[in-house]
Amino acid sequence: MSQTQGSTESGSTMESILDEHRHFKPSKAFSSNAHIKSMAEYEKMHKRSVDDPEGFWADVASELHWFKKWEEVLDWRLPDAKWFVGGTTNICYNCIDRQIDAGLGNHTAIVWEGEPIVDEDGHHAGGEPEVRKLSYYDLRREVSRFANALKGLGVQKGDVVTIYMPMVPELAIAMLACARIGAVHSIIFGGFSASAIRDRVEDGKSKIVITADGGWRRGKVVPLKDNVDEALTLTDLVDTVVVLERCQNDIHMVDGRDHWWSDLTATASEHCPAEEMYSEDLLFILYTSGSTGKPKGIMHTTGGYMVYTYLTSRYTFDLHPRQLCDEELNEQCRGDMYWCTADIGWITGHSYIIYGLLPNRVPTLMYEGAPDFPEKDRFWDIIERHKVTKFYTAPTAIRAFMKWGREWIDKHDISSLKVLGTVGEPINPEAWMWYHKVIGNEKCPIVDTWWQTETGGHMLTPLPGATTTTPGSCTKPFFGIDAAVVNSEGEEVGENEGGILVIRKPWPSMLRGIYGNRERFIETYWSKIEGFYTAGDGARKDENGNFWIMGRIDDVIVVAGHNLGTMEVESALVSHDAVAEAAVVGFPHEIKGTGIAAFATLVGGIEETDKLKAEIRDHVAKELGPISKPDKLRFTPALPKTRSGKIMRRLLRDIAAGREITGDVTTLEDKGIVEKLQKQTD
Ligand code: WT7
Repeated sequence: MSQTQGSTESGSTMESILDEHRHFKPSKAFSSNAHIKSMAEYEKMHKRSVDDPEGFWADVASELHWFKKWEEVLDWRLPDAKWFVGGTTNICYNCIDRQIDAGLGNHTAIVWEGEPIVDEDGHHAGGEPEVRKLSYYDLRREVSRFANALKGLGVQKGDVVTIYMPMVPELAIAMLACARIGAVHSIIFGGFSASAIRDRVEDGKSKIVITADGGWRRGKVVPLKDNVDEALTLTDLVDTVVVLERCQNDIHMVDGRDHWWSDLTATASEHCPAEEMYSEDLLFILYTSGSTGKPKGIMHTTGGYMVYTYLTSRYTFDLHPRQLCDEELNEQCRGDMYWCTADIGWITGHSYIIYGLLPNRVPTLMYEGAPDFPEKDRFWDIIERHKVTKFYTAPTAIRAFMKWGREWIDKHDISSLKVLGTVGEPINPEAWMWYHKVIGNEKCPIVDTWWQTETGGHMLTPLPGATTTTPGSCTKPFFGIDAAVVNSEGEEVGENEGGILVIRKPWPSMLRGIYGNRERFIETYWSKIEGFYTAGDGARKDENGNFWIMGRIDDVIVVAGHNLGTMEVESALVSHDAVAEAAVVGFPHEIKGTGIAAFATLVGGIEETDKLKAEIRDHVAKELGPISKPDKLRFTPALPKTRSGKIMRRLLRDIAAGREITGDVTTLEDKGIVEKLQKQTD
């Protein structure tokens, strides 16, 4: 394992080593108003949180609403954790009703902006973008209506509801409605294809899909309903589809199966009590790629997830709600406007657009479309108009902004910004510095948050008022997190030595399993090192106790912040008639961080043409969605294999990166193949 920060594939540069010695302390002005004001305060609280996790988490949970208090804070029988055992609550109630109960019903819960710039007649040209603001009252009314609509369709507590929607308020409404009535949502990112929908519907045994006619992306309609129709020709499990009208594009409604959202909600009552849920009742399933086979349905339950995302949101972003003082006049009184640019279809959106944010009484902004529509300054325009204070995005986006140039930013006043966040993959120091200087104007702390779909919430992260940051490091464990870098025996490795990142104690929002696959749950997370949760990432800890993520140690590659299993892409490749065998690896990519390089052998007799290359790449995009489309594809008469038949991926990684092959090749079966591959262009 290499010892540089960043993905193991990005290599080390002199500059990245120098950057480790560049430290950024929060300013006194910032710290004095922050929740956590100093390293000493962080350390004291962190110590208490790991020495007495039950006391610490009980205090946090007590800030939220419970119908019935828990009997036991934690029941830990490795690998199964139960938090707030016997307690009953409802996360939707804590997102909405708790604020209304406190007299804040008229405060803004969600601010939404659509992609099209529409004029008064709804024409997509000139004029102002479409903006909707929902107060907690509005949100409760809409959520309750839709919850009643779901009940009317026969949805019951515990049923799995599939949601495949664009980034519109109704997506938030649909998920909160499920939570309100105790249905389990399974949200599928709108960029995924029909076969991904089929797989997830079947794995979750879901009989209902909620979708929209389409969503706007870069001025075009994403045909969500068509994708659902296609998926439903591949499975007959689903008997009900709810369709939101968003783009007024032509779609086909199936009689008896398909219902318009507006018809269902028009007649539904706006009163729907929040169901009393046990803390350990399943809240949602969210699929993430594994190193082998089909995606894993990660399970998250109610109470622990709610408490952990609530606290991480507050401290990581240093959230401050609007005060009941001089209203909008004074900056302190106005409170935060928070914007996370992720799609709700990813865990980032689940935890840090909706579930962690709303209970903190801070408005959360949702944007439907692309960052470069109609121009490359859309994000800065949004920040200026909505006075965004806390901004959370991904390194892949930051690298794109860098490439587009700072003139797009300079057109706008983004001085409202106070904290900048990043997530999804290691951020290279150059991008970190650019984020710090150009977006943060050297005054905004950067929080580089390391976590996973499985962890539910932030695990390693700076706290903006306390932590001294260093470009490229996600710094220190959050409260309650006992993280370590160990060797294969589970022993902590030395300072700055690479090893396996593990979590040694349970935390409230940890995954409760893989849906329908106990064995895989144990095998993937609990078998590598006895007694510890293994995340699948390599890391090292420096002399200041800061963690540096070194990239995946399994066959998962993180492309533009999205976790993709190389196996999945390989299966999609071989599902093309012309492809006999395929291997996929990551390679350093300027914008995406990691790009997808594919190697394929063709079925005998088939000619290797550029046209076929394009066709095969498109085939993968159609099977798995556009993010999985290989950036490079090379044909080869055979894949480089060891004598025992194992594909030598590290050779392919070198070839894809255009590097010289330095490692041992003595086990390689046919050396000629590697030479041929190196000579080829993409
Ligand atoms: C994997 C988890 C957590 C939401 C987005 C991705 C990588 C995530 C960082 C970071 C370095 C990171 C890891 C992790 N990752 N954040 N700040 N620094 N690497 O969720 O799809 O479950 O992927 O993303 O490799 O294991 P996910």
